[in-house]
Amino acid sequence: MSHAEDHEGTRRDFLYYATAGTGAVAAGAAVWPLVHQMNPSADVQALSSIRVDISGIEEGTQLTVKWLGKPVFIRRRTPEEIEDARAVDLATLPDNDARSFQAQGADGADENRSMDEAGEWLVMMGVCTHLGCVPLGNAGEFSLDGVGGWFCPCHGSHYDTSGRIRKGPAPENLPVPQAEFVDETTVKLG
Ligand code: FES
Repeated sequence: MSHAEDHEGTRRDFLYYATAGTGAVAAGAAVWPLVHQMNPSADVQALSSIRVDISGIEEGTQLTVKWLGKPVFIRRRTPEEIEDARAVDLATLPDNDARSFQAQGADGADENRSMDEAGEWLVMMGVCTHLGCVPLGNAGEFSLDGVGGWFCPCHGSHYDTSGRIRKGPAPENLPVPQAEFVDETTVKLG
C-alpha cells in the first residue's frame, strides 16, 4: 500500500471518486452526492476530463474528487482563508511559483492560483510534492489563527491556505491543474 493510500483513510475530508467513462459515482458518505461524470463518451478525450458539481460545497470545506487517478481538492475558502493567502509576503515563499496550469511562469501570488478573482475557489492536486501523500485539510500551521491550510503528516510538510509549501521537506506548491468554470456550479477538470 502506498503512503497516499495509507493516509486517505484518515483524512477528515469526505472523499468521492468519479469513475471516468462510466458515469459511476461511489460516495464514501452520502452527504454530498456531487461528483458526476457528465461526458458519456469513452474516448481518450472524455477520460481526461470530468465535470464536478460544486453547488453543495460549504464555505470552509472542500470536496475531493479523483481525476486521472489522483485526488483533486476543490475548496470553497472563507474570507479569512483568502485574506491569509493574500497577505503573504511572496519573498518568504520557499517556492515562489504559481505552479498553475492557468498561470504558467507566474509568481506564487494567491491571485495566480485561485480560480476566481475574489479567491473563493481553489482547485489543486491533493498530492504532496515531497513523496506523494495526500495532505490533510484545515490542518497546517500557516493561517492567521494558527490552524489552516494543509498538513502532510508523512514527513511534516505544511501548506498555507493557498496550497503553497511553507514548512517541511516538500519542495513545491501543490499544483493547480487545468480547471475552469462551465457555469456557476460546475467546474470542469481537464
Ligand atoms: S510526502 Fe508529504 S511530507 Fe513527505
